[in-house]
Amino acid sequence: MSSDHRTRSSGRMPPPTPEALRAALARVQRLDQRHHMHPFTDPRALVQAPPFVMDAAQGCYVMGQGLRLLDAMAGLGCVNIGYGRPELAEVAAETMKQMSFYHSFAGVTNPPAAELAARIAALAPGALNRVFFANSGSEANETAIKLINLYWRRRGQPGRRLLISRDFAYHGSTVATSALNGLTAMHKPFGIRTVGHVAHVASPFWYRFGGDLTPEEFGKRAADAIEHKIMEVGPQNVAAVFAEPIQCTLGAIIPPESYWPRVEAICRKHEILLVADEVVTGFGRTGRWFAQETFGFQADLMTLAKGLSSGYQPISALVMSDDFSDVIGEQSEVLQHGFTTSAHPVATAVALKNLQILEEEKLVTRIADDIGPYFAARLTTLEQHPLVGEVRVSGLIAGIEIAEDKASRRQYPVDLGVDQLVGQAALARGLIVRPAGNVLVLCPPFVISRAEVDFIVDALAEALDQIHTALMAS
Ligand SMILES: Cc1ncc(COP(=O)(O)O)c(C=O)c1O
Repeated sequence: MSSDHRTRSSGRMPPPTPEALRAALARVQRLDQRHHMHPFTDPRALVQAPPFVMDAAQGCYVMGQGLRLLDAMAGLGCVNIGYGRPELAEVAAETMKQMSFYHSFAGVTNPPAAELAARIAALAPGALNRVFFANSGSEANETAIKLINLYWRRRGQPGRRLLISRDFAYHGSTVATSALNGLTAMHKPFGIRTVGHVAHVASPFWYRFGGDLTPEEFGKRAADAIEHKIMEVGPQNVAAVFAEPIQCTLGAIIPPESYWPRVEAICRKHEILLVADEVVTGFGRTGRWFAQETFGFQADLMTLAKGLSSGYQPISALVMSDDFSDVIGEQSEVLQHGFTTSAHPVATAVALKNLQILEEEKLVTRIADDIGPYFAARLTTLEQHPLVGEVRVSGLIAGIEIAEDKASRRQYPVDLGVDQLVGQAALARGLIVRPAGNVLVLCPPFVISRAEVDFIVDALAEALDQIHTALMAS
């Protein structure tokens, strides 16, 4: 069983026997299989094969069932300061003892919530100064959608309802945010309707769709797709463009440099709100505090989650520009929106401590000046591998494109699941990466060491070799 069990059992008590550990594991799996429905999991598969029980985490590693795995996904892009930091546990315990909970409805606040809102406003670019707290990225984006509708009503343009999103987008799992997602597989099973609510345009995914264009040319063309859609439906009907600076979830799609400034210019020209979903990229992942700074644009609204507390507490935020929040606040009317645990004192205190650690340990600058360039240099060596079409990296976010034919950028049929096979082969070598449909996504904790980056590259090279050999033999 895991080393953690051994650590916890030190002291006067004799360590649990292997039989006791096996029985404890079997109990967890049994209860889970019977009663727990998992997100983004095939429930039937879980009935047939027991769930993997993860029960400890430290630094860049997660532990469970006797395994210790380097998590190059930082728990879905959350755990930026690394797992198991006692400072955050202490802040959580102190805050719980001081004030376990009170809500923030009807004009009540608490000290860490006010401090955190001010800290976010100070870090956020431009006039993004007003913060609404929620509990997940989906809720932050859902809040954005509702407040955008309110904004346009207040501005006397209630017809502006359409949201422009992009293929390969991921903005969440609530009904409205699911409609923003750029894969029909996320709409169909639940009967999510996009018609009249959301229009999807092309993603700035040069590797797959750029053809003979240079990345710069393609970036402009992808931005222009937004303007074409605006003209097709009429600017007076468009409320906002909703976009992740890097589309992480569905492939670590890093847009060409020409893309973002042009998207911003198009939004300004047609007076359309621009929402940057920085749920993954926010708080340093690209080597700047926010990816808007990396790509040189300024949004009217920004959503944040994951890295806000490094995943130690469920907390998210919608950050609004002064112009936007002034319109929301110009009329004396209760904002009919909120979550019971918005601005939770424990979550906000933990997030504050997390931001303090990022600053004191200079973890964002480290990505820009040290570990980011090292990660990029080492990872791009994999481009020489016959299975790798492209390695794209920004800060500590990377996509490794699997290619059947490198010259023509042809992909393997998705059903073949080559990315899944490489992911499993990497896992067998102690490494977690995320297969995302012919691409492997990586976004390791900011505290990753050079030796750990070397381990990632070596494990991936071996995994790629193994699957390449198997494909050649089949
Ligand atoms: C860019 C982006 N936006 C929104 C979300 C939704 O966040 P949550 O799962 O916390 O609701 C995610 C989750 O992965 C995301 O990557």
